[in-house]
Amino acid sequence: MVKTGLIGIGGMGRGHLANLVRFTSEGEIIKLVAACDIDPTRFENGERQFNIDIGGDAIDFSKFACYTDYDEMIEKEDLDMVIIALPTYMHKEATLKCLDKGINVLCEKPMSLTPADCEEMLAKAKAVGKRLMIGQVLRFWGEYETLKEYIDNKTYGEVTGAYFFRGGSLPVWSYQNWLMKRECGGGATHDQHVHDVDMVNYLFGLPDAVSTVGKIIIPGSGHDSVSTNYIYPDNKVVNAQDDWTMQDDVFHMNYRVNFEKGTMQFRDDGLYVSAEGEVPHKIECDPENGYYKEAKYFANLIENPDMVNTINPPEDSMATIRLVCAEEYSADHHGEVTKL
Ligand SMILES: NC(=O)c1ccc[n+]([C@@H]2O[C@H](COP(=O)([O-])OP(=O)(O)OC[C@H]3O[C@@H](n4cnc5c(N)ncnc54)[C@H](O)[C@@H]3O)[C@@H](O)[C@H]2O)c1
Repeated sequence: MVKTGLIGIGGMGRGHLANLVRFTSEGEIIKLVAACDIDPTRFENGERQFNIDIGGDAIDFSKFACYTDYDEMIEKEDLDMVIIALPTYMHKEATLKCLDKGINVLCEKPMSLTPADCEEMLAKAKAVGKRLMIGQVLRFWGEYETLKEYIDNKTYGEVTGAYFFRGGSLPVWSYQNWLMKRECGGGATHDQHVHDVDMVNYLFGLPDAVSTVGKIIIPGSGHDSVSTNYIYPDNKVVNAQDDWTMQDDVFHMNYRVNFEKGTMQFRDDGLYVSAEGEVPHKIECDPENGYYKEAKYFANLIENPDMVNTINPPEDSMATIRLVCAEEYSADHHGEVTKL
């Protein structure tokens, strides 16, 4: 049983908490031992408040230890694993502290704001011989797992073009409004768009260069709307866009990938395919929530020291941050083509 602590019970942490409670009640691989948030009111409300419905019951905070200081939690509790769901600018410090205590770390995306931070996190994990993984959850998300499978198997031949979109309304609920401060969250590019950037990296590898147009709409928040062209040696047309200023309460994540012999489209209502010799149809994907699968995969890595992290290695997450930073540079320079 992997004894687990959670740090940060805000928007994302609440989702992890619901999964950790579920794991604990299932009595299988993960046991929730302790949770921490600097804000004690986070322990007063058992509601699951999360923008993606991941199921589960109300949370009973008397079933595990609650802390308002994570230094105290990692000092006092005997933990095998922590999930860090703190604001992004706190990821590096918390990761280093937990690794130093000999605790394996599953840290939320984005890994950090700069490649230099990521290198430090990776070097620490190697130095102490503990596991580190970043919550690039799309790698565990049914519709994206299916896409990866179809691309790798060349089911419809080679990819000729791909478009990814992510967006919704402005996130104005965060702790001390960190999400609206570029130096804390990195804007929509680091915070939201990073999911699709990581998917582009996962599916196609790093491109030779990027060109990004970014619009700053809210002063001080970073780029709130971005569009990137990823330039590959074979000239496949890859573009990803993000906009977190939409006048729409529904959160969208979509893609359209074109192959030589078929087109896959992940719309708001599911994944559809049209292909040569096939009647257009919907593809049923794994409905399990990606955060649950991601945590389970990480716990399995901890339980099985010889298991290689082939799905979501932290080196990939670091490369994704390099890519995000190249996009930021390009966006700050009017779409300048920026080499990786
Ligand atoms: N994987 C995903 O799909 C996804 C979705 C949302 C957010 N995230 C990521 O999760 C992280 C957290 O985002 P969020 O939306 O939950 O932010 P949030 O502001 O809603 O929550 C942050 C929480 O951290 C707490 N906190 C702040 N300082 C603390 C400290 N020193 N010790 C303990 N607790 C502290 C705050 O009180 C708050 O409850 C970010 O990195 C974000 O990018 C990931």
